[in-house]
Amino acid sequence: MSQDSRTPAEFVDPDDLPNNTSANAHFGEVLDRGLNRRGLLKGGLGGAMAAMFAPMAAVSLTACGGDDDVVVSPPAAPAETLLGFTAVARTLADTNTVPPGYTARVILACGDPMAAGVPAYKNDGTDTNYAQRVGDCHDGIQYFGLSASGSRDDNSSSRALLAMNHEYITPVVLHAAGPSPNPRPASQVDIEVDCHGVSINEVAKDAAGLFQAVQNSPFNRRITGATEIQLSGPARGHALFVTKFSPDGTRTRGTLNNCGNGKTPWGTLLTTEENWSGYFFRAAGDQALRSAKVNASFARYGRNATATAAAASRYGWETAGSDDRYARFNTSVTGTSTNGSDDYRHEWFGQGFMVEIDPYNATSTVKKRTGMGRLAHENGAFGLPQAGKPLAVYMGCDSQNEYVYKWVSTATWNPADANATDRMAIGDKYLDAGKLYVAKFNDDGTGQWIELVVTNPAIAAASFGFTEQAEMYIHTRIAADAVGATKMDRPEWVDVHPTTGEIYITMTNNSSRRAAPTGSQTRVDAANPRAYTDVRGGLTTQSGNVNGHIVRFKDANPEATAFTWDVYLFGAEAAADPTYVNLSGLTNDNDFSSPDGLAFTKSTGLCWIQTDDGAYVDVTNCMLLASVPGTLGDGETRTLNYGSVSVTTRIGKKPTATTLKRFYVGPFDCEVTGLCETPDGKTIFINVQHPGDGTAAADLADPSKYTSQWPSNVGYGAGKRPRSATVVITKNNGQRVGT
Ligand code: FEO
Ligand code: CA
Ligand code: CA
Repeated sequence: MSQDSRTPAEFVDPDDLPNNTSANAHFGEVLDRGLNRRGLLKGGLGGAMAAMFAPMAAVSLTACGGDDDVVVSPPAAPAETLLGFTAVARTLADTNTVPPGYTARVILACGDPMAAGVPAYKNDGTDTNYAQRVGDCHDGIQYFGLSASGSRDDNSSSRALLAMNHEYITPVVLHAAGPSPNPRPASQVDIEVDCHGVSINEVAKDAAGLFQAVQNSPFNRRITGATEIQLSGPARGHALFVTKFSPDGTRTRGTLNNCGNGKTPWGTLLTTEENWSGYFFRAAGDQALRSAKVNASFARYGRNATATAAAASRYGWETAGSDDRYARFNTSVTGTSTNGSDDYRHEWFGQGFMVEIDPYNATSTVKKRTGMGRLAHENGAFGLPQAGKPLAVYMGCDSQNEYVYKWVSTATWNPADANATDRMAIGDKYLDAGKLYVAKFNDDGTGQWIELVVTNPAIAAASFGFTEQAEMYIHTRIAADAVGATKMDRPEWVDVHPTTGEIYITMTNNSSRRAAPTGSQTRVDAANPRAYTDVRGGLTTQSGNVNGHIVRFKDANPEATAFTWDVYLFGAEAAADPTYVNLSGLTNDNDFSSPDGLAFTKSTGLCWIQTDDGAYVDVTNCMLLASVPGTLGDGETRTLNYGSVSVTTRIGKKPTATTLKRFYVGPFDCEVTGLCETPDGKTIFINVQHPGDGTAAADLADPSKYTSQWPSNVGYGAGKRPRSATVVITKNNGQRVGT
């Protein structure tokens, strides 16, 4: 335990510009370099190396075909060592930067055609038909293996469906001259709605062993902001789901702001609805027409129109005309019915859920699993399934000071269900009946899961006036408030260690965390212990938990109501104060800010950490790091003294040069997010979201003024407008990624 008694004003983080000494050391190591991989990839070596930990000096292989048949004895490759790669330096380069010996390639950029006959993307703002194109702002991504014959094959590393989220849009690049103001043209709104949601894309290795998109695959599917979706689970049919479109409250349209995602043990996708609330317009004066409960819910989820001021919508979709497709984004009372069956006053209640999709069946029904709560869902990760035990799904609600949740199924796990063919029926079994819990992190390193049940005395006594269990699933945040859940520093991705079962969840940052809070600020606590000030580029200051951290916890079993926790890792700049900021001792090779994406790869057990940052971006673009995590409790306790307030936290063992390394830095103005791997661990797929989103509409005619020209500047696609896209990363010698 170490202590320090300086006051908060004394641990302002210094300006960080001097750290940018990288000179883009790995700028040349990237992309499409025309590597001669032919001998390696055609000789069947892939199989020979599948579980390789030993040198390959003894391996000989025969290149196939033609007059260049030769027996090749490749040079000895080093044994695979986890994190054996050279750390990538921080960089502002507008490209993919990977370690020496690795290759990054772009596929599936925004606008790429996903059906036969859809024209190639021109990328000049004149493209149409986005319901058959890859959407925008790629986020979570999952790999669903396919056999050569086109059936589900969890072991296939050569053909698959990539299911990915399209969280939101970068409007400036989608329209020829940028987005038009309200009232929005319907043609622009149609594009924007279709750019949201989820895409299911078949990918397969070509003759050179490189994954390529399959444009005309019958598996390809878009779920958009307009797709019909069933409301499933315990709140199905609730009065707050009644709309003109669904008078019985069982259906809705669209899934919005799909952020992280997850994969079920039975081979379906869980996609999440995160910051959906702002997509809906609420008129000034609507409060007077609604119940106290409905008004309280609108306020708690951020749609608090007043008597004189409307809650304006994010993109103005409701202004595009009287057609139902646009009118539904006005969540105000506009009709005369008492139950909402003649308008879209309740449309807003149909968002905020965990959504299940069967990627292997392009016509399958999509279902919102209402029992898992209505949140700003970031993603969902299953605890390790145990036969005969309930399944647990861990979930974060990504907004400042929101909570961590757990779903526990009523049904106990039957391993035979992993291979059932009616996958959505298995989803019904495990995701529609169960218990919903919220987390309370105690200062002593323990925690409680508190069930959100209407009979809980604290919930029954809440001023909101809960009267039925279904309300737990619709006004979830309010129920969680009532039971004293712990306010966290923006819970983002969660994933589960593939062997220890410990759960890791990123807390990306929190500008309202303070040692001495005022107003709506939140006081530091043991699980969210940092509050400091960072000076960015000598220009702006940011306060609170500027750089974020990663919490780790452990449940004794899926249905446990008590857990233990520590902080696995604190984000920080390497040069930051080691006593208050850089608590994990990060170095130039592994410092990072604002952890967001987090995923374990089963093949290696590596924990991959991705950033979506606004604090360190004067020095480096967002990034991906690889780590070999330890176990809960492997570190120390540490007391941070903030003058009159002190807080004792639990810090995981400090990473070393061999347990945490920066692996990839993305292009300018982007977020690096989403990660999945082939089962053999030799390919990873990540997503680059919104590169160049700082580009101004006034500059669209002059590509030299775009803040990013990625991915055209790495040789991908037409036009120079920046595009969100998927990046495929492989190791040139065929070994597993991250070694
Ligand atoms: Fe969409 Fe929580 O990041
Ligand atoms: Ca995120
Ligand atoms: Ca984010």
